[in-house]
Amino acid sequence: TDCYAVFGQPISHSKSPRIHGFFAAQTGQDLSYTAQEVAPEHFTARVGDFFAAGGLGLNCTVPLKELAFDYAQVKTPRAERAKAVNTLKRLPDGAVLGDNTDGGGLVTDLLDNHHLTLAGQRILLLGAGGASRGILAPLLEQCPHSLRIANRTAAKAEQLAAEFADLGAVSGGGFADLAGQCFDLILNATSASLSGQLPPLPAGLLSPGGVCYDLAYGNQPTAFVRWGQAQGAAHSLDGLGMLIEQAAEAFRLWRGIHPDSAPLIALFDHERT
Ligand code: ATR
Repeated sequence: TDCYAVFGQPISHSKSPRIHGFFAAQTGQDLSYTAQEVAPEHFTARVGDFFAAGGLGLNCTVPLKELAFDYAQVKTPRAERAKAVNTLKRLPDGAVLGDNTDGGGLVTDLLDNHHLTLAGQRILLLGAGGASRGILAPLLEQCPHSLRIANRTAAKAEQLAAEFADLGAVSGGGFADLAGQCFDLILNATSASLSGQLPPLPAGLLSPGGVCYDLAYGNQPTAFVRWGQAQGAAHSLDGLGMLIEQAAEAFRLWRGIHPDSAPLIALFDHERT
């Protein structure tokens, strides 16, 4: 059996084994996929052991994505941009390839699952940490005309914008700079949502008919999803679809076949209603 796994810490609540198990059954692929708790200080040794034992691919999640970036000998352009890797693949010559499927997963969810348009939209990205860095290149590819990054620490948003400025019209600043501005799509990539907190967002920030999207997700609507609903968003979405689509892209990288995510999204959605 071909072996795959996700490494992270904590990892016990990971949905990845279930997602990849579902995709394997759907596409008739014979593989195993396990979740393994790996501390950062053991990362390099554990990855080495995994591939030496014949493992074919790994997902790496918090807090290991930067270490996975350092580990990969070959990187996709979007991984180079993100400076983070969530998917490792052993190549036929033994080298390890690093990719980052997070941004692609987000864009697929927005465009294909939610049938949204990105081109020409005024987009606001909240947060300037690893989650934002991971999605900026695929986002700007779809929408190079107007992307604003807002962060609690304004300098970090400015720095991130400068780093991606060659890909499109992207600027950065603090939350206070948002007063009087209006956006068609607001993406939350702060870790605030996980603890039920919200960045200080001025009223009128979302255009009529605008869309909110929280990269986080949970069994209950997140604080940001509820904020979007309160602003009258046409859609206030969470990151379930992104989670499943980033897995689908990893699965395709490993197995050369793209699974159908729709039945899995429907199943997970059903389980939390
Ligand atoms: P991740 O990998 O999840 O992006 P990170 O790199 O630590 O984690 O980044 C966390 C992001 O959430 C940052 O943009 C952080 O803002 P700062 O750069 O100012 O620290 C943001 N964040 C965390 N808690 C927040 C809060 N309570 N309100 C607003 N922003 C918050």
